[in-house]
Amino acid sequence: MTKHFKAGIIGTGSAFPEKKLTNFDLEKMVETSDEWISKRTGIKERFIIDENMPLSVLASEASKKAVEDAGINVEDIDLIIATTITPDYLSPSLACCVQKDIGAINAAAFDVNAACTGFVYALQMAQGLIVSGIHKNILIVSAEALTRAVDFKDRNTCVLFGDGAGAAVISRVEDGTGIESVHLGAIGEMGSVLTIPCFYSTEEDRSKRGEGMDRVIWMDGSEVFVFASRIMSDATISILEKANTHIDDIKYIFPHQANIRILQNAAKRLGVPMERVYSNLETTGNISSASIPVCLDEASKKKMLQKGDKLILVAFGGGLTYGASLVSWSK
Ligand code: COA
Repeated sequence: MTKHFKAGIIGTGSAFPEKKLTNFDLEKMVETSDEWISKRTGIKERFIIDENMPLSVLASEASKKAVEDAGINVEDIDLIIATTITPDYLSPSLACCVQKDIGAINAAAFDVNAACTGFVYALQMAQGLIVSGIHKNILIVSAEALTRAVDFKDRNTCVLFGDGAGAAVISRVEDGTGIESVHLGAIGEMGSVLTIPCFYSTEEDRSKRGEGMDRVIWMDGSEVFVFASRIMSDATISILEKANTHIDDIKYIFPHQANIRILQNAAKRLGVPMERVYSNLETTGNISSASIPVCLDEASKKKMLQKGDKLILVAFGGGLTYGASLVSWSK
């Protein structure tokens, strides 16, 4: 008889550039202050990638660490899903660059764009592909170089974003732990509140941006703020219902790190104390899809997680996209 198995996270890794950009550095670049940024966002500093460094280097570093942490050989990886909205190239994909750099010669590779929700989207794909038996060991690598996609003259956006990479290996687990449930969604109708043009953009979209800044992030901050605060708690409630689990049984919520006030609003709606809501915003800023795997890696390395702990991963982002997952920790 075949043993029952689930898909679980069996290894994590993360990587950051060396250079930091503090709020005090930003004070010299744009009309802002450490006090404003800290109070309104919870961010103190973020990492910034060197202009000569490809994002694939960071992504590969995080990936190698995740594979090592999983205790498998890189040749055992049979699929790489990279999530990013700031790839070095559209082709080759970031996943293909990582495949080459880490020597994952037996892996297929492709990129996913679900903006900041990318990791949760990839997690559902990985779960389906593993539980169906199509793949055995999937590497998800979420990497972003958002400082390359902001206008450092636009104080509404440039203070929020940073760079970094997080990775996770998803494999069969047979001990009852693993990914219990994933709930994904999108509201394309609201897509225009957060945009990054690529090869085409409307005149209206171009007029929102500074001279020569056609491919940078533009965002209606307050619209995104309201959406994010609501969707974080709604998606969490949906996943709890789907998995027939109570919020009190959840050890930690790992939310996408965008603004500490969004996390506080959602925690309040859910009746969860902030001690159970993981945050590293102060030191990383918003690193889009990389934020959840980086947080998981940090918490794992700090020995905050034990096998069987129930966790909620919840994210929202451009698109607009959102998603939540209930995971029973497998390491
Ligand atoms: N420094 C100083 N002042 C700033 C500023 C900055 N970096 N950015 C904006 N301001 C100003 C505004 O211009 C505005 O000034 P005004 O009243 O003279 O017009 C004032 O601060 C208040 O702006 P407001 O937009 O109401 O601030 P806020 O408290 O909503 O915070 C964000 C703005 C962007 C931090 C907040 O809306 C946010 O976090 N939104 C969600 C962003 C997000 O999560 N994006 C990624 C999604 S994955």
